[in-house]
Amino acid sequence: MNHVLITGASSGIGKQLAMDYATEGWKVTACGRDPAKLEALNLTHPVIDTLSFDMTDLSLTRQALAWVQADLVILCAGTCEYLDNGIVDAEKVARVLNTNVLGPVNCLDALLPGLQTGARVALVGSTASLVPLPRAEAYGASKAALAYFARSLALDLTPRGIHVSLVMPGFVKTPLTERNDFPMPMMVSVEQASRFIRKGLARGSAEIAFPPLFALLLKTVALLPLAWQKRLTQRLVR
Ligand SMILES: NC(=O)c1ccc[n+]([C@@H]2O[C@H](COP(=O)([O-])OP(=O)(O)OC[C@H]3O[C@@H](n4cnc5c(N)ncnc54)[C@H](OP(=O)(O)O)[C@@H]3O)[C@@H](O)[C@H]2O)c1
Repeated sequence: MNHVLITGASSGIGKQLAMDYATEGWKVTACGRDPAKLEALNLTHPVIDTLSFDMTDLSLTRQALAWVQADLVILCAGTCEYLDNGIVDAEKVARVLNTNVLGPVNCLDALLPGLQTGARVALVGSTASLVPLPRAEAYGASKAALAYFARSLALDLTPRGIHVSLVMPGFVKTPLTERNDFPMPMMVSVEQASRFIRKGLARGSAEIAFPPLFALLLKTVALLPLAWQKRLTQRLVR
């Protein structure tokens, strides 16, 4: 039986992935911070094992993930906080970078030694890292850092036969985006997000950016001079 370990599985995209992989017959290890949310997931899907730990704490992460051997690892846990009016709140930025960059790095530190040839690691970034968006200094920078990390790691894990995929969602309806107070174009459901991700991973795609039209638009904007990008993205997300 194939084994998938998913972080951020107590909510949103990660939770949907955990339920869908369990339905497909995979052995699922669902990770999150909140034991109550994980217990609820286990009650509805008893085949899902759960692990609760804060991935920003390296020693807790190492303890929780020691001995886990998975065929597929999806590092989905993350957070989003926006800066307001260009005020750089260093504590806020540190929280976002710690969770979105060092969190997955801690998981990789703990998991990579146990992965076998043929295993795949997916890091969940964001299409937000493609272009500068208003108020997204911390979030966008964290996801840009994670994207670089994933691309570089893909090169270094090739000799071990371990594959790396970078997942770049557009807007997905989850508790994370419920907090957003601006229009979110081409938003998809968690069910659709899970389908895009599972299909891309089954195909062995190095990059899974969705919804495809939204990702293509942002990639096109990213090719324009910075002054044009600024005008366009300020209109896209106010
Ligand atoms: N939703 C979108 O539109 C969107 C778009 C692009 C990218 N993404 C990315 O997709 C991923 C999932 O987002 P989502 O919308 O599904 O968010 P969500 O519903 O808020 O879920 C976030 C998950 O991350 C876990 N988490 C957060 N901090 C953690 C920590 N320090 N240690 C361990 N687990 C932690 C949470 O666990 P607890 O609840 O147990 O604390 C929760 O399971 C994130 O990386 C996000 O940046 C989302």
